[in-house]
Amino acid sequence: MRQAGRYLPEYRDIRGDRDILETIRIPDEAVEITLQPLRRMPLDAAILFSDIVVPLVAIGIPFRIEAGRGPVLDEPFRSRRHVARLRPLEPEVDEPYTLEAVRALADELDVPLLGFAGAPFTLASYLVEGGPSRDHARTKALMFADPLTWEALMGALVDVVVPHLRAQVGAGASALQVFDPWVGALAPAHYRAYVLPHMRRLFEGIADLTVPVIHFGVGTSELLELMRDAGGAAIGIDHRTPLDRAWERLGHATAIQGNLDPAVLLAPWEVVEREALDVLDRAGGRAGHVFNLGHGVLPDTPVENLQRLVDLVHARSERDG
Ligand code: CP3
Repeated sequence: MRQAGRYLPEYRDIRGDRDILETIRIPDEAVEITLQPLRRMPLDAAILFSDIVVPLVAIGIPFRIEAGRGPVLDEPFRSRRHVARLRPLEPEVDEPYTLEAVRALADELDVPLLGFAGAPFTLASYLVEGGPSRDHARTKALMFADPLTWEALMGALVDVVVPHLRAQVGAGASALQVFDPWVGALAPAHYRAYVLPHMRRLFEGIADLTVPVIHFGVGTSELLELMRDAGGAAIGIDHRTPLDRAWERLGHATAIQGNLDPAVLLAPWEVVEREALDVLDRAGGRAGHVFNLGHGVLPDTPVENLQRLVDLVHARSERDG
C-alpha cells in the first residue's frame, strides 16, 4: 500500500512540483512511479500509482490534492443538489489514462499488479468534509440527519467504484484492493445500517471477476466480522489489532493482510526485526497471510529498513514453506 511516495528520492525527482493528479494522468509517469519500489526491493506485488479520488475527478468533481494534507474540495457536498453531480463512471471515456497505465504495467511486470478504489464511506467523507477530517462529524451528521440523501450519495459512489474496479481488471490488474481507511469512525450498528448494504452491492458488482479482492480498513477491530460479511477474499487490518486476534475473529477461511505499524520502520533495524517477527509469529506460518504494513509507508522511512524487511519476510516464508 502506498509503496510510492516521498520515501524514495527518485519519486520526488519525477513528481517535481507538479500536481499529483496531473502526474497520474500521464501514463508513462504513472507506470514509471509504480515500478520504482520494485527496482529497490523484490516485492511480491505492485500497486498502481493513482489515488482514490481519481475516478471522482474523472467525472468532474474538482478535487485537488494538497501536499501534507490530502484531497480537498472547495464546495463540499452538503445536500441532494450536490449528490446529483455524481454520475456512473465510464472508464474508457472518463479515465483512459488509468487503463493505459494498467495495460502497460500488466505487460511489463512479472509480479501481480493490484488495482484499487476508495470505498464509498471514505470517498463520502472527502466529499462531505471537503478535506481530511479527524472526527468525520459532517459526514456522520448527513448520515444520521438525512438518510435519504446519504443513501443516494453512497449508491452513486458504488456506481463510480464498481466500473473503476472492473475496468482495471479488464486492463490486466490481477488483484484488487478496496481502501476504507476512515470507516473505523463508525460504531458496528451504524456500519451495519448505513454502510454494509452499499459494500455488499459493491462486492456483488465485482463478484464475477476471478481476481482476489482485499478489503482494507483502519481502526476496524470491532467491524471485522461485518467487513468480512460485506465481501473480500482478504481483510486488511491496521496495527491496532493483534493479527492473531483479528484472524480468530474473522475465521481462518478468510485471508488476512497486515499489520506492522509503519512508525516502527522509523526505529533502528533491531526494533523493526523484533516487531516484524512478532507479526509473523502471530500469523503462525498459515497460508492466507499477506504481510504488509498496517497503513501507508511514512515519508521519512529509511529505504534500507524497507529492503531488509522484505528480505526478512521472504526468508521466513521460505523457511515456513
Ligand atoms: O503507492 C502508491 O503510490 C499507490 C497509489 C496510492 C496513492 N494513494 C498515491 C498517493 C494509493 C493506493 C492511495 C490511496 C489513498 N489516497 C488513500 C487510502 C489508503 C490509505 O493509505 O489510507 C487515501 C485516504 C488517499 C487520499 C490521499 N492522497 C492522501 C491522504 C494523501 C496524502 C497527502 C499528503 O501529502 O500527506 C494523498 C496523496 C498521495 N496519493 C500520495 C501518494 C503516493 C502522497 C505523495 C505525493 O503527494 O506525491
